[in-house]
Amino acid sequence: MAVKKEISEALHRITHGVYVISAKHGKKINAMTAAWVARASFVPPLITVAIGKTRYSHDLIIDGGVFAVNILGKSEIATGKHFGLTTGRKVDKFSNVSYDVKATGSPILKDAIAWLDCKVVSHYDTGDHTLFIGEVLDGGVLREEEPIVYKKDEFF
Ligand SMILES: Cc1cc2nc3c(=O)[nH]c(=O)nc-3n(C[C@H](O)[C@H](O)[C@H](O)COP(=O)(O)O)c2cc1C
Repeated sequence: MAVKKEISEALHRITHGVYVISAKHGKKINAMTAAWVARASFVPPLITVAIGKTRYSHDLIIDGGVFAVNILGKSEIATGKHFGLTTGRKVDKFSNVSYDVKATGSPILKDAIAWLDCKVVSHYDTGDHTLFIGEVLDGGVLREEEPIVYKKDEFF
């Protein structure tokens, strides 16, 4: 079912940042770019990420029960494209990328401006996506730079 053009155009006017959502299950790691990330609670600190059901990352987050949100700075459009335009089913997106691991083992990108390491506390079926709610177990700021404000034509 196609969404009415006016609804689509209005939805495109919701502002988003650009994030790399990483995940780990056993020895497998992967990450994908996401714009649909939001805060959900001060205490405990909760955040939500909406992940398409067809994404490889979706299966890893379901199976591993953890994810990290890597917040990208304005200079990291290429990083957003790297993780957002290919699938971990076909390529190892971490073959040339430096990262650390913290509380959950989900990769924390050295090039991110800040990170939030989360365990999944619940998830909801939301149409073609799943909304994951994560409790932030640890987080930090890596450098001072303005975050990206998502503009579709910079990525697609
Ligand atoms: C800027 C940008 C924002 C994106 N936002 C989302 C998002 O919020 N949720 C989502 O499921 N996919 C989003 N995607 C698409 C995924 O990043 C893309 O399908 C990716 O290839 C999935 O990788 P995976 O199969 O390795 O998990 C976005 C892509 C880009 C470039």
